[in-house]
Amino acid sequence: MANIIVGVTGGIAAYKAAELVSLLGKQGHDVRCIMTEAAQQFITPLTLQTLSGNPVYTNMFQLQQNPEWKVEHIGLAHWADCVLIVPATADFLGKVANGLADDLLSTCVMATEAPVYFAPAMNDKMYQNPFVQRNIQILRESGYGFVDPVEGNLACGTSGKGKMASVEQIADVVNTLRPQDLAGMRFVITAGPTRESIDPVRFLTNHSSGKMGYALARQAAYRGADVVLISGPTHLAVPFGVTMIPVTSAQQMFEAVQAHFQDADVIIKSAAVADYRPKTVAAQKIKKTDGDMVLELERNADILAWLGEHKTTQLLVGFAAETNDVAENALGKLARKHLDFIAANDVSAAHSGFGKDTNQVTLYGADGSTVALPILSKDETANRILDKILEKRKEQII
Ligand code: CTP
Repeated sequence: MANIIVGVTGGIAAYKAAELVSLLGKQGHDVRCIMTEAAQQFITPLTLQTLSGNPVYTNMFQLQQNPEWKVEHIGLAHWADCVLIVPATADFLGKVANGLADDLLSTCVMATEAPVYFAPAMNDKMYQNPFVQRNIQILRESGYGFVDPVEGNLACGTSGKGKMASVEQIADVVNTLRPQDLAGMRFVITAGPTRESIDPVRFLTNHSSGKMGYALARQAAYRGADVVLISGPTHLAVPFGVTMIPVTSAQQMFEAVQAHFQDADVIIKSAAVADYRPKTVAAQKIKKTDGDMVLELERNADILAWLGEHKTTQLLVGFAAETNDVAENALGKLARKHLDFIAANDVSAAHSGFGKDTNQVTLYGADGSTVALPILSKDETANRILDKILEKRKEQII
């Protein structure tokens, strides 16, 4: 059973935190509560202390409650397997999204490596406020989880989307926490597009958003793996617990991969690497002329093919972004680049490919296996790919 921190912030839904603490306790979890000052205007620490059977933490500067912890918020942050913020006010979301840590709960959220889930609850107009939505987006992209609010009657007398999810739904988050089955495995994952400079202001690139690679990195890290993410330019936040190596060009990505591949157990190349770069990069901005222009390109190294030639014990996983003859092209790449798996997707399909939040992937193995995944979120697709990799790794070890 898990060690769970329930962080309570100051909204009327705070009373439901008491119910959640009681439910989690009945499910056998060890629960400790942290309350903000505003939360204590709605329910008392005594309520949560009684229901959790543990001391309630309310103050950064109070004397130690647990003598084993040198610093309380760090002690709590380490202790937790999961942190649930119930309810999460607009104020608290804004605070975490902007890196502020000025009380016990926000410092603990900042310091923990455990998954953190927010259950927002507020007036529907507040919830729709662009700043609140932006903060939620930042948090989601940084790998924080959400149990989204639902439509319903709100405390202010109106109704709309802002009512906190049910305590059962929130408790479910803990029950679906993944075991650390990738602990001890080292992953190198590449993601995003590359940029190939033409001159100081222009470059060649592609539509890759990086979402699939980041989902793989995030989920692998959630499952306990050590993850190095080598990423071209994206708008995504670095997933929690992942070591990020930002690169721009295919050549830089190649050098970063060469520097890290030897220590890896698994290499996943989900980046959309430019196959060509301009033969010369103009030192100054190229001025237009009346006529047309021809850009001469030269080949970039095929990083994955190079890995296929140089790998020893590493499992090598490639991606094939195709617009036609998906299976045939993917199987060709699997064989040519000496891969263990290739994840093929049709990037022209409505639910797959660049920038989408869902994907439909077929995973082909060098061992002849084929796993056709349904349309899934990129995070779920990532988990299925990781399951297959783990299965193969276990076979290798046996
Ligand atoms: N890849 C790579 N280095 C390159 C090109 C591609 O490592 N210079 C990797 C990608 O990260 C991906 C796989 O090779 O894992 C397949 O990439 P894709 O663009 O689908 O295919 P290409 O091999 O470039 O072949 P083509 O463009 O002809 O389809």
